[in-house]
Amino acid sequence: MEKVKTIKSTDIAENSSALFETNTQQIALFNCEGQFYAIDDMCSHAEASLSEGEVYDCKVECPLHGAEFDLKTGEAVTLPATKSVNTYKTEIIDGYIYVEMGTDA
Ligand code: FES
Repeated sequence: MEKVKTIKSTDIAENSSALFETNTQQIALFNCEGQFYAIDDMCSHAEASLSEGEVYDCKVECPLHGAEFDLKTGEAVTLPATKSVNTYKTEIIDGYIYVEMGTDA
């Protein structure tokens, strides 16, 4: 398990998102009601960046075909996506969002 320092929590407004890239992965970070969530940025349906989707009710809507994903579980809650995306645990340390890579939240 690797804990990765990402961006400041104040850099993501409520109900919005940001993209964070490591050497090997693209992670979408979200602020939902003051809680921070991290999921795979790539939609499980096709090639679309979930960090560019609209955020509401702790879900993100894929910008390409509109499938919704639960930010807490990664579950695809509406079609056309049927597969979950990975979720990662987050923690705020000294104002920065840390993401635990390699572990499901
Ligand atoms: S690419 Fe996300 S729903 Fe199709």
